[in-house]
Amino acid sequence: MKATLTLRDRIDQVVFNAIYSRSLVYNTCWEDPAVDRLALELKPDDSLLVITSAGCNVLDYALAAPRRIHAVDANPRQTALLELKLSGIKQLAFDDFFALFGRGVHPQFRELYYDALRDELSPFAQQFWDSHLHWFHAQHGGLYFQGLAGVVARAFRAYLRVRPRLAAGVGDLFQAQALDAQREIYDTRVQPLLWGAGMNWTLSRQLTMNMLGVPAAQRQQVQAQHQHGVAGFIREAVEYVFRELPVWTNYFWAVYINGRYTENCCPEYLKRDNFQALKSGLAERIVPHTCTVTAFLQSTEERMSRFVLLDHMDWMSSYYPEALAEEWNAILDRATAEARVLFRSAHAAPDYLKLIAVGATQTPLHERLQFHDRWAQDLQRQDRVHTYAGFHVADVVGVSA
Ligand SMILES: C[S@@+](CC[C@H](N)C(=O)[O-])C[C@H]1O[C@@H](n2cnc3c(N)ncnc32)[C@H](O)[C@@H]1O
Repeated sequence: MKATLTLRDRIDQVVFNAIYSRSLVYNTCWEDPAVDRLALELKPDDSLLVITSAGCNVLDYALAAPRRIHAVDANPRQTALLELKLSGIKQLAFDDFFALFGRGVHPQFRELYYDALRDELSPFAQQFWDSHLHWFHAQHGGLYFQGLAGVVARAFRAYLRVRPRLAAGVGDLFQAQALDAQREIYDTRVQPLLWGAGMNWTLSRQLTMNMLGVPAAQRQQVQAQHQHGVAGFIREAVEYVFRELPVWTNYFWAVYINGRYTENCCPEYLKRDNFQALKSGLAERIVPHTCTVTAFLQSTEERMSRFVLLDHMDWMSSYYPEALAEEWNAILDRATAEARVLFRSAHAAPDYLKLIAVGATQTPLHERLQFHDRWAQDLQRQDRVHTYAGFHVADVVGVSA
């Protein structure tokens, strides 16, 4: 079941792990919770396991008032970002909270941090933020230019500074308020200037993908299924986003161009009324955990009715296939009878799932999952991020009530 890894693959993975294990990767979630919410069909008695990433989507799901959300991430820095947001919801007024996580900059962050926020944090989160207070200072660019994803956003911003005509086109694109006008700007002033040999070369570098949290195994999965490789796949995704979906609600791409959100174009948790709802008790239903999905599930007696696994299985599929099988055993052991699983993949149909067998009888995994492929594909058409070839919604079967 183990993939044949070349020396190059092993070096890439060592580099990826070295970068990843020391950094906060995601300063914002790069997966669309509006699509997830439609697929999750959350109810008041739902218990969720959600991979944290930057925590934006965990807070979005909490607005649907499920009973409990366990936010799990193996990277303690991702948990530290969620903890800071939860502390901010509890301790701050909306304007201060929006300055921090909307604009990514607050001139009095040091005072707010020591006076109100720090005491709510775990020891690791305190240690982390004690040495990253400058991330919220204007002269350092603000939160959305920090972390690995932030480095790529900075690089693209520097690139636009030396391409003024492209920068003007991109600027007007994000000001568009009608799809026809948006499409016109993209087709005539962005697309012809953006896609060239230099951009294709940069996007096909593993180092660029490392900074975007895409390990070699995942890049190869994209490469394998697209005639023009990773650059071709990303170009297609960008063209769909800017030709088919309204840019004025697309906070995912806007934050990396502008380095901040606006109150009209931002994640749901940053909207004033939603912030108040989270502050009035919904945020207390969120429990952060720093560990693997498997370790969390093997340590709890609680049963989960919803699992949101992001695209992390692509990470594990090539390098840790045994761990992936162990994770699915843990998921099925802790699932309720009507449990549902959501995940994304660089693969439209991830082969690695077909190789997994679960339980004492080593039943093929796909016999324990009922996929809603047609529905998932319909939902994916609305996905404002659109950089995952696969969006998967599956109900767990064979679990006794
Ligand atoms: C592939 S990224 C998903 C990020 C997501 N696409 C986003 O943009 O918001 C995976 C996230 O899952 C975490 N992760 C990876 N493997 C994990 C595991 N086995 N258990 C828990 N968290 C894991 C990583 O730390 C990272 O935050």
